[in-house]
Amino acid sequence: MTSLLLTGIGSLVTNDPARGDLLGEVQDAALVIDGSKVGWVGSRRDAPAADAALDLGGRAVIPGFVDSHSHLVFAGDRSEEFEARMTGTPYSAGGIRTTVAATRAATDEQLTANVSRLVTEMRRQGTTTVEIKSGYGLTVADEARALAIAGQFTDETTYLGAHVVPSEYADDPAGYVELVTGPMLDAAAKHSRWIDVFVERGAFDADQGRAILESGIARGIQARVHANQLGEGPGVQLACELGAAAADHCTYLTDADIDALASTGVVAGLLPAIEFSTRSPYPDARRLIDAGVTVALATDCNPGSGYSSSMPFCIALAVREMHLTPAEALWSATAGGAASLRRTDVGHLTPGARADLVVLDAPSHLHLSYRPGVPLVSQTFIAGRPV
Ligand code: NIG
Ligand code: FE
Repeated sequence: MTSLLLTGIGSLVTNDPARGDLLGEVQDAALVIDGSKVGWVGSRRDAPAADAALDLGGRAVIPGFVDSHSHLVFAGDRSEEFEARMTGTPYSAGGIRTTVAATRAATDEQLTANVSRLVTEMRRQGTTTVEIKSGYGLTVADEARALAIAGQFTDETTYLGAHVVPSEYADDPAGYVELVTGPMLDAAAKHSRWIDVFVERGAFDADQGRAILESGIARGIQARVHANQLGEGPGVQLACELGAAAADHCTYLTDADIDALASTGVVAGLLPAIEFSTRSPYPDARRLIDAGVTVALATDCNPGSGYSSSMPFCIALAVREMHLTPAEALWSATAGGAASLRRTDVGHLTPGARADLVVLDAPSHLHLSYRPGVPLVSQTFIAGRPV
């Protein structure tokens, strides 16, 4: 096992609570990568010797971003739907069916190449862990293939057969729920770490959502929920009732929803690129954080409601539009994402963590929101290796 000393780090974000402040920042720092893990972190003057050294010339180092919500297995393009939205056509769940048709018609090679392209795009922007959902196949074979493809790129695969009721089941939604909780789940289970459902007007109601999530939980697949995106609704309460890892979107919340998230510890996944791209109000992130809710920031990269793969963009939106402090936004994009995926090995840079880190072409993490839209990621390491 070889070791690499990163030295000359202007500012190092560790997310180590033992260091006092939220981000556990160390100025004029150094970090040793031992094989695939973080071996040591501290002040540059105390750094131990290593097999090799790299002087970062005052650049900042942060934990790699943990993007806890994305839909990358798809084909086709909905740029015209976006164009129409920008001149007043509202977003609705029904647009998903456009992508379903294109995805079913695509070959395995086309779908795999598209995921590969998007994962590469994400890595270039500092994402080192990504969750990927199915949900544009909606047949037994198409959902199983989407999950098998997702599994080539990440362990964080999510079965979202319950994304929308496909057109062929328009007259028989109950029959579709039976398919999702029966034969489709059988085919999806071995490829899935998570099960998800879109609880929303035009998608699934609370009883359908409960049946779907419980069918997965009974097979040892953990739950996460698309909740309260287009209006107030039962999604957050369902996530809390079932002990889901996360309730994502949270655009429209009641006081009772915030209390439930705070008391159950379900992570609120905020996806500000979606509000940006659907021209919707942003979630009240301040109220969530002030109530003690754990917040994760994620891209939700998908061809419909928002096609950004950029965690730095989400951080800038979180700071500018949702009034998170830059430190809270970065924490939510790293440690918050890890909490959403129930991972303890990523989202922080303390000895023993996976060496997933990002070198910024900037002296501190503040530049992520201070310089929005600027490609500041200079180098990304995953499990100790430069990518
Ligand atoms: O998270 N909300 C449901 N699913 C996606 C949108 C999918 C689509 O419009 O294609 C989302 O926003
Ligand atoms: Fe989503």
